[in-house]
Amino acid sequence: MSGRKAGVLREGRLANKVAIISGGAGGIGSAAARLFCKEGARVALVDLDAASLRAVADTVRSETDGAELMCIATDLREERSAQDIVSQVLKAYGGISVLVNNAGIRRYEALADAPWEAWEDIIRLNLLSVASLSRAALPALRQGGKGSIINVSSTYAVYGRKGMGAYDATKSAVLSLTRTLAYEEATHGVRANAICPGFTRTPFHIHRLGVETVEKITPPCVMKRWADPMEMAYPMLWLASDEASYVTAATLMVDGGLPE
Ligand SMILES: NC(=O)c1ccc[n+]([C@@H]2O[C@H](COP(=O)([O-])OP(=O)(O)OC[C@H]3O[C@@H](n4cnc5c(N)ncnc54)[C@H](O)[C@@H]3O)[C@@H](O)[C@H]2O)c1
Repeated sequence: MSGRKAGVLREGRLANKVAIISGGAGGIGSAAARLFCKEGARVALVDLDAASLRAVADTVRSETDGAELMCIATDLREERSAQDIVSQVLKAYGGISVLVNNAGIRRYEALADAPWEAWEDIIRLNLLSVASLSRAALPALRQGGKGSIINVSSTYAVYGRKGMGAYDATKSAVLSLTRTLAYEEATHGVRANAICPGFTRTPFHIHRLGVETVEKITPPCVMKRWADPMEMAYPMLWLASDEASYVTAATLMVDGGLPE
């Protein structure tokens, strides 16, 4: 899509939509930010990491002429942050049409070893922030009559494995929360869907494992490769757009066909 100037009629698959993307400084969140802005949305990026948010904003602006985006650095584990984010976005853009709950943290330990603090921390971000940001945004999402919530879960919310039990439990809870939201909000014109990414080659995993190890790992999916973050952003774009107007309560597996 070609660039555009502020103030003129927007073009693109998300023309005239306002999207909040949590975890917008991360691998998948920043890919969604780049794509959503290219497709005409005004975007609010939310993340704990202020410096990375600024870097993502610079990239988006260099890629999309006239991109409209704002950055909100906040800790989503705090309940008050949700209402604060919504107030800032409404003040800047006058409405909210799309909410992407993408921020997430991981824990790598067996359930036998997972301390209370680990559970508390991961539940606060991976589950409670999804509930609280959705709750805070719902009045605005309802107002336009075409709201869309996209919750980022994980392929392992559905399949079993060892070693990340607390994380997987939060991601399964997100699927349940998404379905309930879809049922409760349908009459208010708000759709709610979840995507379940598989192995996605984000900077998080590259820093954690090192690039050589990432390249040596063959994900246990039929496509036998890692996804590029943009391969998560495109399904999000579709769910955010009016093209998916009859899609709600869905769990969309974006995992290259896992398990093999
Ligand atoms: N990458 C994968 O392979 C994969 C697979 C399945 C699911 N996911 C899910 O996709 C989402 C994005 O993953 P990613 O790989 O891009 O991860 P990432 O770590 O790059 O991005 C997550 C972002 O969340 C932010 N964040 C962390 N704590 C926060 C807090 N308290 N408040 C606000 N922001 C906070 C981080 O700063 C980071 O920018 C996550 O929910 C993750 O669980 C990723």
